[in-house]
Amino acid sequence: MSTDEHLDPIPDRFILQPPVFHPVVPYVTTIFGGLYAGKMVMLQGVVPLRAQRFQVDFQCGCCLHPRPDIAFHFNPRFYTVKPHVICNTLEGGLWQREIRWPGVALQKGASFLVLFLFENEEVKVSVNGQHFLRYRYRLPLSRVDTLGIFGDILVKAVGFLNINELPCSRTLPRGLWPGQVIVVRGLVLKEPKDFTLSLRDGATHVPVTLRASFTDRTLAWVSSWGRKKLISAPFLFYPQRFFEVLLMCQEGGLKLALNGQGLGATSLDQKALEQLRELRISGSVHLYCVHY
Ligand code: GAL
Repeated sequence: MSTDEHLDPIPDRFILQPPVFHPVVPYVTTIFGGLYAGKMVMLQGVVPLRAQRFQVDFQCGCCLHPRPDIAFHFNPRFYTVKPHVICNTLEGGLWQREIRWPGVALQKGASFLVLFLFENEEVKVSVNGQHFLRYRYRLPLSRVDTLGIFGDILVKAVGFLNINELPCSRTLPRGLWPGQVIVVRGLVLKEPKDFTLSLRDGATHVPVTLRASFTDRTLAWVSSWGRKKLISAPFLFYPQRFFEVLLMCQEGGLKLALNGQGLGATSLDQKALEQLRELRISGSVHLYCVHY
């Protein structure tokens, strides 16, 4: 059996675009697979002490002449007493009506983290973990395939992430076989309640569930009869921190690793593993990557 048969049909959903560290500005890069609802771009940087302005442009193409349309121009300006942000769209070489956002938490000489979360109708921007603005699209998001960063900014890192809607369900067309690995990466939300990863078979039985409870800080395997087996290990999920769950299929069960640390195995016979058809994930997390 070729491993390709297990892969998601949309390559971009599982091939993550590698992050870029300390690129030289002006910096222009292709956004793999373009933008679509659920995509997130993370920008970590420093505003130089003498900064006047910088801009982050989500562009439709990258040619220099004619100038590409810019679906979303995010432009912090520092030459006024209080820094502010201008957002706008450039279409056919013309700027449209600009929107001014005062009170941005960006400061000269300070480092920052800006997240751009692209949704169906609008992009949401957060600065240093606080929601800052939303901007309704004036051009179709699907036209955007290029990120451009210009002006007075030191870029530490640019990251590209996919946020999957929860609950998230993935089909396992041929069940699980020894040697296969399920990888789940995400970010725990601010005030988390729980995180559940369940494996279901064609008859919608749930032979195995991995459940993390943030209220009592426990991690457990739950069997189809609801029998709970606590995993005795330090609780490695933390609010607002990234996590990685690896489930490695082996003869007679599934081995678990959380954030690189082996946490034992749960037994499940080969027939039950082969009959699994669905992976379902829910709970208080943002999911960036699910693949197997
Ligand atoms: C112009 C400025 C452009 C762009 C635009 C946004 O005044 O020259 O760089 O920021 O505003 O509306």
